[in-house]
Amino acid sequence: MTYKDFGLVNTRAMFADAIKRGYAVPAFNFYNMETLQAICRATTDTHSPVILAVSESAMKYMTPDMLMGMIRGMGFTPGNVALHLDHGGSFEACEKAIKMGFSSVMIDGSKLPLDENIALARRVAEYAHQFDVTVEAELGTLSGIEDENTFSDVSHYTNPADVVRFVRESGIDSLAIAIGTSHGAYKRKNDNEELRFDILAEIARELPEFPLVLHGASSIPQHLVKTINELGGALKDARGIPADQLRRAVSMNICKINVDSDSRLAFTAALRKSFADNPENFDPRKYLTAARENITENCIAEIRDIMNSENKAM
Ligand code: G3H
Ligand code: 13P
Ligand code: ZN
Repeated sequence: MTYKDFGLVNTRAMFADAIKRGYAVPAFNFYNMETLQAICRATTDTHSPVILAVSESAMKYMTPDMLMGMIRGMGFTPGNVALHLDHGGSFEACEKAIKMGFSSVMIDGSKLPLDENIALARRVAEYAHQFDVTVEAELGTLSGIEDENTFSDVSHYTNPADVVRFVRESGIDSLAIAIGTSHGAYKRKNDNEELRFDILAEIARELPEFPLVLHGASSIPQHLVKTINELGGALKDARGIPADQLRRAVSMNICKINVDSDSRLAFTAALRKSFADNPENFDPRKYLTAARENITENCIAEIRDIMNSENKAM
């Protein structure tokens, strides 16, 4: 089976269109049936293309067979859905995903020295391209959250001087860059912090028309944080990337925006609310329906307010 048998596409045409028409394709992470259904409902209702992102740990959680069974069960019509390995940690992880039916992979060698990062990305790209699978790699490392509640002060912004060589020598199809975003729900110590648009501008100048990717780009909607905290949660000082900064990044060649934490918040807020409002309920389908709907609502809001990808499905 190849990804085409699942009605999936690689990211090449998606990114070309996104750059041409000034939007970002959302990459939403999923890890179970409800999150997958929620994301797909949001993107079909808004006629938006989508990249369904699966981390290695999410793949382990679902198991490869269940994951691909769910993908088959969605019954995609070809054109607007890519299945993407998020943060692949090795050549072997990318190879396995491609054999399973993924249409796009990320090889994350961002913690390696530059030459090793390039060599690893090239090896994955040479393999993936034989199957018409597209490849993302990362240059620079995102600060923050290896531990959800602490800020790491270590941040290595992408050096614009390296990007042309990296892309040319590796042969990758898109590049994730570090300009001040970070994974998780604690992205900024205060509201004044800005992304490094100066670095983004230089990279975009060096790589005109080349697809750039923003990880760690959840906006951490405060109404979701508030609901969680009011109902017993403890997400103190959770802060994301403001929508206006994300929109500005989209106007500067960022054509894939990765969102995971926001969906986790939508899921968690809906569960807490459902438990609080219906203490007598013990049918998981009821609270999981609420969770699914809340994720859909949040994805639709982000497709409209941040990605500008509504009605861009081909
Ligand atoms: O960028 C990382 C994603 O949010 C996936 O996280 O490994 O906990 O599934 P995970
Ligand atoms: P967030 O934690 O900001 O949602 O980032 C997700 C991500 O980058 C997945 O690769
Ligand atoms: Zn990421």
